[in-house]
Amino acid sequence: MIFFKNIDEKKPFARIEDLYKEALIAKQRNIEAICISSYSKKNGVNSRFVNLKIVDDDKFFFFTNYESEKAYEFNENNQISAVLYWNQTNTQIRMKSHIIKTSNEFNQNYFMKRTKEKNALAISSKQSKKIDSFQSVKKNFFDVMQSDDLTICPEYWGGYCFSPFYIEFWTGDKYRLNRREVFELCEGKWKKYFLQP
Ligand SMILES: Cc1cc2nc3c(=O)[nH]c(=O)nc-3n(C[C@H](O)[C@H](O)[C@H](O)COP(=O)(O)O)c2cc1C
Repeated sequence: MIFFKNIDEKKPFARIEDLYKEALIAKQRNIEAICISSYSKKNGVNSRFVNLKIVDDDKFFFFTNYESEKAYEFNENNQISAVLYWNQTNTQIRMKSHIIKTSNEFNQNYFMKRTKEKNALAISSKQSKKIDSFQSVKKNFFDVMQSDDLTICPEYWGGYCFSPFYIEFWTGDKYRLNRREVFELCEGKWKKYFLQP
């Protein structure tokens, strides 16, 4: 589930919430999955899915390891693109944005509300670092599961937040008469135009 709050009807984020609700009713699986692309000189362009957890007004939030490859890339170049696709409704939402880390306080509050299994994995995994065997990954996880307190968020785990300045809604239709509607933030105002399919 993606948690929407403080959505302004006059901004394109209201459309995202409406499309999300449609996809939810259509029983979209992995509805939180959002593809985030980043860039660094070392890795070139790099994409991966994460789970989009919160949309608060114009801010989108997901959570990850601050020492992962993506974190390294965001640090070098804070521009990202993000894509949602819900196949049950044949809807794609493409976004461009800059990305920032969330605060320690925000991360700690969020971490405390998660399951101990999720937190044990977040604590035990040095995400994206090489390891000799998958067995070692499992051992690290089950060792951490023995800890008394799995509610303390480590410094290397937390959220990222992005506020898109470009949003394209793509809705598939018959004869490939697909509707492409763009909202672009220009000097604080959302400009709307269409693109040919
Ligand atoms: C549907 C889906 C959701 C995922 N959600 C997350 C997530 O919320 N946070 C995360 O760190 N990794 C998530 N992953 C794993 C990432 O795709 C990726 O393997 C991991 O973050 C390491 O990426 P990096 O090496 O580019 O940093 C998810 C994978 C899939 C397929």
